[in-house]
Amino acid sequence: ISRIGVLTSGGDAPGMNAAVRAVVRTGIYHGLDVFGIMRGYQGLMEDDIYQMEGRSVANIIQRGGTILKTARCKEFYTPEGRKKAYEILKQRGIEGLVVIGGDGSFRGAVAFSQEYDIPVIGIAGTIDKDIYGTDFTIGFDTAVNTAVEAIDKIRDTADAHDRLFIVEVMGRDAGYIALHSGIATGAENILVPERKTDLKDIINSLQEKERRKKLVNIIVVAEGDEYGGAQNVANLLKEHLPKAEARVCILGHIQRGGAPSCLDRLIASRMGYHAVECLIEGKFNVFVGILNNKMNYVPLENVGKKKGTISEEWMKIVKILAS
Ligand code: F6P
Repeated sequence: ISRIGVLTSGGDAPGMNAAVRAVVRTGIYHGLDVFGIMRGYQGLMEDDIYQMEGRSVANIIQRGGTILKTARCKEFYTPEGRKKAYEILKQRGIEGLVVIGGDGSFRGAVAFSQEYDIPVIGIAGTIDKDIYGTDFTIGFDTAVNTAVEAIDKIRDTADAHDRLFIVEVMGRDAGYIALHSGIATGAENILVPERKTDLKDIINSLQEKERRKKLVNIIVVAEGDEYGGAQNVANLLKEHLPKAEARVCILGHIQRGGAPSCLDRLIASRMGYHAVECLIEGKFNVFVGILNNKMNYVPLENVGKKKGTISEEWMKIVKILAS
């Protein structure tokens, strides 16, 4: 292999730049030509590609977003789209591809790697942490810390007014941001897409707290929870708790921005380095995860496998600690 391409795809995640930097610098260290592909698969199909030097990635390790830009590209999920991409890579002589992205981006990569002879290495870059076979995904640590910081601030004002706050964090299919930020901020309840929550239990416990004059309560809701987000949960709760001064706060995309945490920079650097090593060693069509502090190379086709679940243990801890 002498020429490789790197792209970022799907929702951006803090630390993607650190991963791009690691791929570029490791590639150059091994004497490879490294090409940056702009706007994910979209830019690949449009030949929006440029050669990167070591200095192209100077001063980016600390920056959020992605210098390569990103996109959610529907066309790449069609055989015609992937054919276009293949032809561009062939024309440019690019023999290996590093894809930094989440679940959806890997699904595109799986189809591509099954159809064509250009190996793909995936690096898990998503704030959702919902990828099989890795303890870490790039961006989760930063996003969850952003959420914690915001919820701490919300608790100050909730406390001053004796209010109930329903805070929505990101996670369409995954509740890790909700679970981690909720536990770390002492939330009274946490609603996640992976588990059913009976609102009656929440109502009963809030009523019981009202009787004890505990009026400050924070409920953290993942955007993909079964009730359809914080506003819906608030509406349902308000019907039964007319006295509660409830407010809703949706944290939204602030969770995706900002300087990556030290942990995200470290895992991004480590994964980026190993992604290139995989291409050099011929370990093709895998994504690079970290499990129990060791590199874990997961065949790309396993990407749809069952992800980690949110355990009963954690839910019990939430309940006991919030009483
Ligand atoms: O996958 C990352 C994520 O931030 C999810 O948590 C969220 O549901 C989604 O992306 C939002 O996507 P978009 O930025 O396209 O609205």
